[in-house]
Amino acid sequence: MIDVVLKLSARDLVHADLASCGWAGSDHHVADVARQLERARAGEVDYLAVCPATDIPVAKGGVDYEVKAGVGTLWQLAVHPALQSCGIGTFLVEAAELRIRNRGLRQAELAVEERNPRARALYQRLGYVAYDRRPDSWDERAPDGSLRRYETMCTLMRKELS
Ligand SMILES: CC(C)(COP(=O)(O)OP(=O)(O)OC[C@H]1O[C@@H](n2cnc3c(N)ncnc32)[C@H](O)[C@@H]1OP(=O)(O)O)[C@@H](O)C(=O)NCCC(=O)NCCS
Repeated sequence: MIDVVLKLSARDLVHADLASCGWAGSDHHVADVARQLERARAGEVDYLAVCPATDIPVAKGGVDYEVKAGVGTLWQLAVHPALQSCGIGTFLVEAAELRIRNRGLRQAELAVEERNPRARALYQRLGYVAYDRRPDSWDERAPDGSLRRYETMCTLMRKELS
């Protein structure tokens, strides 16, 4: 085993990145990310890419400023499966928080599925505190190629940014 040091930076995700983001989810999800990039153009959201020196995204995620006034809501966070548990998710969340602060806001929120305790533990470690729970649902691609409604229960978490 060897240790490899990756120099990572965070920048805006752009349309040209989407062809390299197949690891992030189904074609349906990537098409939704493309729609979110239109919203980013309008200033409604920030959508970030975390890249090593190749400038190819290994993590991505958004901050939506329209869910709740005065709050940056983190969502669609994902790290390339081959590179999870290396600290990249932490870097992504911190980069997203910086975007929120740069807009003069001090509150970050997110929703994490109750069936995703690993992600919840990460957010807790980063200072997010659970304050409520809420059902959520979205369309996802089924193994047979059809679209189906996925329903889940989420914990709502928030953090006061210093
Ligand atoms: C949730 C997710 C975004 C977190 O990203 P990540 O890069 O795995 O997160 P981090 O590595 O920063 O931190 C998580 C873990 O790495 C560990 N870790 C952090 N830095 C580390 C380092 N330098 N060396 C070794 N381990 C480290 C943490 O202790 C934590 O431990 P765990 O793997 O036992 O849970 C990512 O796992 C993911 O994309 N999951 C699938 C999609 C998803 O669930 N998205 C979240 C929706 S709310």
